[in-house]
Amino acid sequence: MDLKKFSLTKTTDFTIGILGGGQLAKMTAVEARKLGLNVVCLDPHEEAPASMVSHQIVGSVNDREKLHKLNSLSDVITYEIEYINTDILKEALVEDKVYPSIQVLEILQNKYKQRKFFQKFGIPMPFFKEIEEINQLKECIPCVQKAKVGGYDGRGVVVLKTQGDLSKAIKEPSYVEELVDIEKELAVIVVRNAKGDMKVYPVVEMVFNPDGNLLDYLIAPADVDEFTEKEAQNIAVAAVESLDGVGVFGVELFLDKKGRVLLNEVAPRTHNSGHYTIEACETSQFEQLVRVLTNLPLGSTYQYLPAATLNLLGEPGYKGKPIYENLDKVLSIDGVYVHIYGKKETFPLRKMGHITIIDTNRERLLEKVVKVKNSIKVKGEIKI
Ligand SMILES: Nc1ncnc2c1ncn2[C@@H]1O[C@H](COP(=O)(O)OP(=O)(O)OP(=O)(O)O)[C@@H](O)[C@H]1O
Ligand SMILES: [Mg+2]
Repeated sequence: MDLKKFSLTKTTDFTIGILGGGQLAKMTAVEARKLGLNVVCLDPHEEAPASMVSHQIVGSVNDREKLHKLNSLSDVITYEIEYINTDILKEALVEDKVYPSIQVLEILQNKYKQRKFFQKFGIPMPFFKEIEEINQLKECIPCVQKAKVGGYDGRGVVVLKTQGDLSKAIKEPSYVEELVDIEKELAVIVVRNAKGDMKVYPVVEMVFNPDGNLLDYLIAPADVDEFTEKEAQNIAVAAVESLDGVGVFGVELFLDKKGRVLLNEVAPRTHNSGHYTIEACETSQFEQLVRVLTNLPLGSTYQYLPAATLNLLGEPGYKGKPIYENLDKVLSIDGVYVHIYGKKETFPLRKMGHITIIDTNRERLLEKVVKVKNSIKVKGEIKI
């Protein structure tokens, strides 16, 4: 299908296929259902979160037969995860049905390829170098070593500050980056359709939990000056344009202590840092993705109110069927929106949901964040 020629006339006859059936697929499917569209996801776990609002094919995203089935049911296909075997995708799917394209996915799923690609376009990034043999690492310290593929949620990334840290080095194919003296971690959601129209969201600031390396909370808009904000948005837009990307892209950036804005990485999908757009913006990142996939006009990214997002992570020490403690307490606070993904099992630090908090006043917003964070807990039926 050529998206540029496509126009949505019979909404209920149109099916969006999604590789993966987790929370991102679920939130995308909710928006698609609002427009009367059908959704089918492919996920190996029965009753995956997206199955609450879509049809599910149970199977791996690398299973040719299941991909054929998804292909035959879908008019257009997207993905919520980037670690998919692209050779299998090329064989099993009609390539021009897939957005963002398989070529874009191939570049972005390999962090080193991604760096090399953006370097050609002069996009500001930390200095980086390929590691051909592990002995080279000694001379690079201090640095950050990253696995070329397979890193997710902080796995596959190690900070090497002293020679003593070499024991933690990654053994798989990797590269090293300059250890950026980070002032703030920022993110920007960029949307681009098949015609090349673009929308960019406000810059958000991520605050990380040092234990799990998972997002602790984020606040939008980021507390940065106007120049930094524009710079972050410009870099994010340039990165997506250079890819000729069609879809929604989560762009992670660093602001260093000298005031430089550098690209960290681009994800070819909706992003945790854009969840606040559901309640705080005129059009959510998920609705934008549906609009891109159906060739409808892109929506406004205007943000009504300051917002914060907290991830609901599985509490350490528990697994099994999740128990959401103090849900009633947090829902009694105004401007608190709870999203529970519907995962059947919890385990330590698993992303089980998120909470978006909005307020007209930024100080009050932060007070609410602390209150919510200290009360809601995701425990499990089994103590470990
Ligand atoms: N060059 C760098 N200098 C300093 N810190 C870095 C650098 N690269 C990464 N980090 C730190 O490590 C974290 C994870 O890095 P990165 O985003 O590359 O990994 P990831 O596995 O994709 O993680 P996630 O899935 O959480 O985005 C960053 O958010 C940042 O805190
Ligand atoms: Mg990252």
